[in-house]
Amino acid sequence: MSDRKGIILAGGSGTRLYPLTMAVSKQLMPVYDKPMIYYPLSVLMLSGIREIAIITTPQDQDQFKRVLKDGSQWGMELTYITQPSPDGLAQAYILAEDFLDGAPSAMVLGDNIYYGHGLTGMLLEASAKTSGGTVFGCRVQDPQRYGVVAMDAEGTPTAIIEKPEVPPSDYAVTGLYFLDGSAPERARQVTPSARGELEIVSLLESYLDEGTLDIQRMGRGYAWFDTGTHASLLDAGNFVRTLQLRQGMQCGCPEEIAYEQGWIDRAKLSAHAEAFQKTEYGNYLGKLLD
Ligand code: G1P
Repeated sequence: MSDRKGIILAGGSGTRLYPLTMAVSKQLMPVYDKPMIYYPLSVLMLSGIREIAIITTPQDQDQFKRVLKDGSQWGMELTYITQPSPDGLAQAYILAEDFLDGAPSAMVLGDNIYYGHGLTGMLLEASAKTSGGTVFGCRVQDPQRYGVVAMDAEGTPTAIIEKPEVPPSDYAVTGLYFLDGSAPERARQVTPSARGELEIVSLLESYLDEGTLDIQRMGRGYAWFDTGTHASLLDAGNFVRTLQLRQGMQCGCPEEIAYEQGWIDRAKLSAHAEAFQKTEYGNYLGKLLD
């Protein structure tokens, strides 16, 4: 087990998903057969992280607690932190400073979904790094929607630019950040950008300038979704459906990961299978017992 702690940032108003977000918090919306947040949660679990803070808006917190509880059902410890107003991703480190208590962290955005062969190895490598940070670059068709990596002629990253009108490359920085224990202190030095936010890219640049930021490329064998729009939400759902129906394996199943990590025993897995009886999800958990 790692002493790295996790953060899932599930704040924000989700206005781009309006009117859906009038009914349910964005990160709890279904991505095929599970709440969206199960997928980023699974990524942190695969990284070996058991202690996680969920950052939500004050009004959404109860919904998240109802779904994720205190985490003990998966042998984990979940803490809830409120973000009164969405003032940028870097703010999460300031809000989580007491929770982190000097520990290194992995923060994932509640609407980011990852899939790929070798993902766990990549996560464990990032998690094992004791100082500096690791982020993941992924090629996309619409880099102007994201933080984008600028590189010199040798391919060495020189800058990360938030939503550039003219993207310096096709490499978006995905919403998964492994940073050392100095992240909250650095986040406090970040000044608001022109759009009034404490930008994650400013925090990352403080590491980049020191030469302590690794930008790992997720190559063509990886799928990464940011489900912030109606179309991308549906695309992610279709992707998960196609994959699961073809392979007969679940993507983003916390019970399965907890069992494989040894965080819950057979009896507990069996109880989960029982609770979801008569659903495909429950059948799948039942099969894991065989
Ligand atoms: C945020 C970050 C951006 C990152 C993206 C990944 O953008 O600011 O750097 O590339 O998440 O999903 P947002 O989705 O908040 O527009």
